[in-house]
Amino acid sequence: MADMVVDKDLDFNIEAEGPAVDASKKVRVGIIGCGWIAESHVKQYLKCPDVELVAGSDIIPGKAAKFFEKMEVEGVHCYEDTDEMLAKEKLDIVSVCTYNSQHAPCAIAAMKAGVDVMLEKPFTVTLEEAIEVMKVEKETGRLLSIGFQPRMDENMKMIKKIVESGELGDIYYIQTGGGRRRGIPTPYGTSFIEKDKGAIGALGDIGCYSLDMVLNAIGYPKPLTVSAMKSDFFGKNPKYWEAENKPAEYANIFGVDDFAAAFIRLEGGVTLDFRIAWAMNLDTPGDTIIMGTKGSLRIPSTECWNGTVGGAMKIYHDVAGKGCETEIPILKTKENLFYLKIRSFVDACKNGGAAPVPSSQILYNQAILDGIVKSSEAGKEIEIEIPEI
Ligand SMILES: NC(=O)c1ccc[n+]([C@@H]2O[C@H](COP(=O)([O-])OP(=O)(O)OC[C@H]3O[C@@H](n4cnc5c(N)ncnc54)[C@H](O)[C@@H]3O)[C@@H](O)[C@H]2O)c1
Repeated sequence: MADMVVDKDLDFNIEAEGPAVDASKKVRVGIIGCGWIAESHVKQYLKCPDVELVAGSDIIPGKAAKFFEKMEVEGVHCYEDTDEMLAKEKLDIVSVCTYNSQHAPCAIAAMKAGVDVMLEKPFTVTLEEAIEVMKVEKETGRLLSIGFQPRMDENMKMIKKIVESGELGDIYYIQTGGGRRRGIPTPYGTSFIEKDKGAIGALGDIGCYSLDMVLNAIGYPKPLTVSAMKSDFFGKNPKYWEAENKPAEYANIFGVDDFAAAFIRLEGGVTLDFRIAWAMNLDTPGDTIIMGTKGSLRIPSTECWNGTVGGAMKIYHDVAGKGCETEIPILKTKENLFYLKIRSFVDACKNGGAAPVPSSQILYNQAILDGIVKSSEAGKEIEIEIPEI
């Protein structure tokens, strides 16, 4: 048994709150897609004294109006046609809260209309779409940030700080992913599991979080090759849905992955071993581990993976030639992560700051998701090619 050493030099202090908000300068905000996650966006915008929620669109007739009524926000102009809303409302910011297949067209339309975009995760469905969005981001000069709120968690920041401190030495191998024994999401209907809506399943819903946790920590190196498989054994099984008290018919609707595993080579000699599950006959597919030449970090998984740390992290390293373990206590994040996601974006838009979660990083996350789909379908390893944008 290695000794337990608590490293007193690590900074466990949570950063102080951000700058005061200048409420005299207001931004006009619209929502595209008035479903489940849009509720969180609206709640957070309502906490911002410098935001006016002026418009919302949803392609389902009457849905936007019902949504704002439920959210008890008055005076919002509601549309079925997003282009019409963008043309009429002179918005500064939109949140794109549509299902995945509509992320790229809506983000592109908004930026072309001169609006800054808070785009929900995953970035897009395919790598090609992400590249198209980034070309428009470059052409228009609009601000685009991707909705990875787990990044705002102090524990996630700590993972990055540990890697950057050099405590682990050179990183050469990472295992990450997460899963749920039973957890295919159908919160407000079936948009997550339909091919033409969600388009990618566990990969786009929770896989992108696992990738961001480790790739952000190591500086987002470029992915080079992927060898992967994906499956849909649970989602395609009517008995799964019956046991979940959901319609057995969902098995016919199910058109995405519920499990994926991949072996990814990254620039700089790092290998990434990844697996993600919406459903499996197991509690967890394993903790996240970041292995380095001087030390390794273990990040306990959670039972229901959604981008949070499942327990105290541990660094395994040698101290004066002796194998030791340093436990990193769980850190509390003072603010709601969803608020931090929105607030940091509004601040960046108002003050000309950088995107809190830039597309230039998430492009590599998307390239891996896309590579997993393509390698799985090809049944062999593929090279990831990312053109200059
Ligand atoms: N960050 C998070 O923690 C988090 C949590 C849940 C969902 N999400 C993401 O949010 C997105 C939406 O998920 P959801 O559960 O809210 O889905 P949802 O199906 O409940 O809502 C999506 C809405 O978008 C509308 N829509 C589709 N295309 C549109 C278009 N072109 N213009 C206007 N409206 C359009 C749909 O009619 C629907 O009402 C997904 O990409 C998901 O990955 C993120």
